[in-house]
Amino acid sequence: VEKPRSTFGMDLHVDLRGPLRARALEAALRDAIASGRLTAGTRLPSSRSLAADLGLARNTVVDAYDQLVAEGWLSARHGSGTAVADHRPGAPPVRDLPAVAPRWARSYAFDLRPGGPDLSSFPRSAWLSASRRALSRAPDAALGYGDPRGSPELRAALAEYLGRARGVRTDPSRLVVCSGFTQAFGLLCRALHGSGARTVAVECYGLPELRQIVAGSGLRQATVPVDDQGADLRAARRADAALLTPAHQFPLGTVLSPTRRHDALDWARRHDALIVEDDYDGEFRYDREPLGALQGLDPDRVVYAGTASKTFAPGLRLAWLVLPDRLVEPVMEEKTLADRQTGILDQLTLAELLASGGYDRHVRRQRSAYRRRRDRLVRAVGEVEGISAGLHALVPLPDGSSEDRAVAVAATRGLALEGLDGYRARSVEGRPALVVGYATPPDHAYRGALEILAEVLDHLGCEPATAPSMTRRAGSSLTAS
Ligand SMILES: Cc1ncc(COP(=O)(O)O)c(C=O)c1O
Repeated sequence: VEKPRSTFGMDLHVDLRGPLRARALEAALRDAIASGRLTAGTRLPSSRSLAADLGLARNTVVDAYDQLVAEGWLSARHGSGTAVADHRPGAPPVRDLPAVAPRWARSYAFDLRPGGPDLSSFPRSAWLSASRRALSRAPDAALGYGDPRGSPELRAALAEYLGRARGVRTDPSRLVVCSGFTQAFGLLCRALHGSGARTVAVECYGLPELRQIVAGSGLRQATVPVDDQGADLRAARRADAALLTPAHQFPLGTVLSPTRRHDALDWARRHDALIVEDDYDGEFRYDREPLGALQGLDPDRVVYAGTASKTFAPGLRLAWLVLPDRLVEPVMEEKTLADRQTGILDQLTLAELLASGGYDRHVRRQRSAYRRRRDRLVRAVGEVEGISAGLHALVPLPDGSSEDRAVAVAATRGLALEGLDGYRARSVEGRPALVVGYATPPDHAYRGALEILAEVLDHLGCEPATAPSMTRRAGSSLTAS
């Protein structure tokens, strides 16, 4: 059977018989890249024109491109299309670098990038004394290989805390302590894949690393639209699970509305699917009591995930999953294979802090500190988007301005910023904005950071960054090269 051949100058045979046409297209492109027929940097045609060439639906091509971007074979940037990623034939596929530059790549005098708490407020002395108490009390056996779910003391303390503070319904036997949500989500994806799952739906805005974890576990992705009511699962395609951030969408900052919470659970029941509730900053709500976890409405359909990365520090690498019964064993197996168990000393210390009230005290202190910081941010920039919660807010940029330019201009003044673009799934159009992490700097650097941010915004507002005169503006101290 003669195979269709695309007409964009690439010698590519694409066998598109059978029902899995997106898969066939992916396989053909992967093959062409691995064999060197398509070389690094080669621009691919737009999804529209390739679809027309091959007689496919445009979505089939978009899906194939998305999958290959997630796997690292292709790279895509807004505005410049899709190209073959930098990849040598014969070498293992290079994963697409995270769109968000690693935090440690360069140091700045001021930092308003999202993702972390104020590390200078880590309660060192409370941690030290809790750690001393925990270690003195622990029997020798606690230092051996233990339950892959984590220390019984920590799981008991977490079950009590999560029920009280977040409305999570669980007992300690369904909790698994992990090395951060990053690990937890990877274990969950692998466990789901192992039990037959094929597709995970992700919000169309989110952490690119989490999308990569889905792809790396052999799962396909579906994208869920997000608006000012949060993720909209009503029209979502069939999937085996959906990763959501109900309390505070990351990074848009919306909350999942009551109707959408029900829509999400409805979707999960209709498709016999699971919701993964990433409650990464659920403790921090400033205008009202936090909404209880979605998991509380249907513990059999929702996996709850929490982390100490925002309340305490990401370097601790402590997070927890609350699982439906049927997933406990498969996730325990994955955890055993990954690292047997999370380090015990920090688990015991955290258990001690939870039991003694030190955890709640720290969260309360940080809640009022971050609320004040958010208020100051609003005063400094005039307008932010997203509910009054968490550690970040969206700061819109003038229409037609460039996020990259704002980031570059800020960098010349020693301020690290991040645009929204790196968090968008491909094929999502959106207005330019910055994702401002107002918790990141230590107190003494916050004022300076806000001043530079206000200057950068002022500068962009005066002259859209697309105007060629920007770098030549007389008298301006803000320039970008
Ligand atoms: C949306 C979201 N989920 C989860 C996490 C926490 O990840 P981890 O527990 O691996 O530090 C983060 C941290 O940046 C996040 O932004």
